[in-house]
Amino acid sequence: MKPGSVQREWQEAAGVSDVTPAEFDGFRDLIRRQVGIHLNHSKKALLYGRLARRIRELGLQSFGQYLQRVREDDEERTRMIDRITTNETRFFREPQHFAFLEAMLIPQWLRAAAAGVRQRQVRAWSAGCSTGEEPYSLAMALLDRLPARDGWSVDILATDISTRVLDIARQATWSIERAREIAPRLLKGYMLQGVGSQAGKLRAAPELRQVVRVERVNLSDSAYPVGPAFDVVFCRNVLIYFEAPEKRRVIERLAGHLAPDGHLFVGHAESIHPVQGLSCVGPTVYAKRDAPEGPTAKGGT
Ligand SMILES: C[S@@+](CC[C@H](N)C(=O)[O-])C[C@H]1O[C@@H](n2cnc3c(N)ncnc32)[C@H](O)[C@@H]1O
Repeated sequence: MKPGSVQREWQEAAGVSDVTPAEFDGFRDLIRRQVGIHLNHSKKALLYGRLARRIRELGLQSFGQYLQRVREDDEERTRMIDRITTNETRFFREPQHFAFLEAMLIPQWLRAAAAGVRQRQVRAWSAGCSTGEEPYSLAMALLDRLPARDGWSVDILATDISTRVLDIARQATWSIERAREIAPRLLKGYMLQGVGSQAGKLRAAPELRQVVRVERVNLSDSAYPVGPAFDVVFCRNVLIYFEAPEKRRVIERLAGHLAPDGHLFVGHAESIHPVQGLSCVGPTVYAKRDAPEGPTAKGGT
């Protein structure tokens, strides 16, 4: 957020008293319990900046009153979580992951399919997909090399906790400025650029939209209703907001949804400590292997 807009948030929120330590602790505990995100005390200004305007909209005067409200009201709790999450993303963010797919995984799958030892089917999951740039990047990368005309079926699940970003991911429509993040050939092949009333917008073509399914999944829940195992799971720049024990539990659950030899990709700043059955096969890339004795994953970044 730019300094000017922070100032505006503060001005607009005039009339809402500052967060007391007890109120901060109440929000911190609630947010950690609900979605795993950990706010340490340095995040007090962030809490104020993101929630004060909503508190004023509701005609409340204090964070304590709002805390009471979100404890009692499921819908308001969802709105509060929408405001607290950080949703920054880009198409083809961390390009080395897409290069790994292109150079290592896709050729393996093509060889295995040609040898008749795997089906022409790939399932991928973008866990913490934000506004959809990540799952649609995956869709472009996969469809481009594994097209339906060659008998391939690509299925991508996109999930997040924030209903606000999921709505955008479902619409698959972004500002045209995003176009510069996509290679010209893929842009031409898989994206529509708006004209007339849609000028200034970029939309995923039907072929892409067909292969991406968008759902709400909370990674802090003890089980994920996500269907059959995945060849690829991207969970990038999500766990950075979690404390170590919760992060480990999420990684273990994600690993449980990988197919044998499936791959987990995490963000460049998110190291993974040893997890049973995962081996580090590249920077921030982990493969599910038949577990020998003891933990197998190496340190991450
Ligand atoms: C910074 S964005 C990362 C988006 C994308 N993965 C990328 O790397 O560009 C983090 C996303 O994680 C989501 N998130 C945070 N906590 C979550 C949870 N407990 N369950 C599911 N998604 C969560 C946020 O809503 C946000 O959209």
